[in-house]
Amino acid sequence: MAQLIDGKKISTEIKEALKLEVAQLKEKGTDCVLAVIQVGEDPASKVYVRNKKRACEFIGIESISYELPEETTQEELLQIIDKLNADSKVKGILCQLPLPKHINEDTVIKRISPQKDVDGFHPENVGALVIGQKGFVSCTPFGIIQLLKKSNIEIDGKQCVIVGRSNIVGKPMALLMLRENATVTVCHSHTKNLKEITKTADILIVAIGKPKFINHEYVKDGAVVIDVGIHRQENNKLCGDVDFDSVLPKVSAITPVPGGVGPMTIAMLMHNCVEGSKNY
Ligand code: GUN
Repeated sequence: MAQLIDGKKISTEIKEALKLEVAQLKEKGTDCVLAVIQVGEDPASKVYVRNKKRACEFIGIESISYELPEETTQEELLQIIDKLNADSKVKGILCQLPLPKHINEDTVIKRISPQKDVDGFHPENVGALVIGQKGFVSCTPFGIIQLLKKSNIEIDGKQCVIVGRSNIVGKPMALLMLRENATVTVCHSHTKNLKEITKTADILIVAIGKPKFINHEYVKDGAVVIDVGIHRQENNKLCGDVDFDSVLPKVSAITPVPGGVGPMTIAMLMHNCVEGSKNY
């Protein structure tokens, strides 16, 4: 029987612990304040932002919302970020991606102070991860490491294959798995013989944004499968990048969608906010 990796349960445990920590910080006079910026009306972003604000409320982190219209100029957005960078009360700044096309995401990410970049997207934080120094780590890959550790899945010495090379998930995931002493392979849309490579994985992490792309033909017997994707199907149900029913008989452990990786992303964002608040 495969182990179902329960991201909902593990994330709740993490958030409960953070709630205590935030209360202790408050007693010492440190408030945790997160600024959440959304530009435009992307429906998925709205759901993510709402969930992030709810998690803040649960933990006792104050969230300040900026819901800006689609027409907001890059300069206006940068000015808001400058103001938040300078506000000592604000410990974390999050600008929900994607941004409208007329705004350059790299410019915006770079403008957020690395000390307040709770998403871990700033080049300084990414660089710190590359060379093994302290810094904020991107929440989804960081959450996957916590899922594996809390599920007692050994990483050290294991063959890890990551499918997807995004800046938010694939690349930082590779660096984190390397830090945990896995042997890491990163596959992407130009990879030849994808199936042969994924079948070598002890731990297979999939973040490609294609519903049910990975079926049993891509998976080795006994592998651990981590599914980062989330898609709404025609029948209104959610599914991941992995065809869950197809791979289930083969795997030793797997994350469900929903209730796997998703809740961990938000828990790690909260973790980063609390860590950021401690640095003041
Ligand atoms: N868009 C998709 N994932 C993320 C995330 O983790 N952070 C932000 N800011 N935007 C996102």
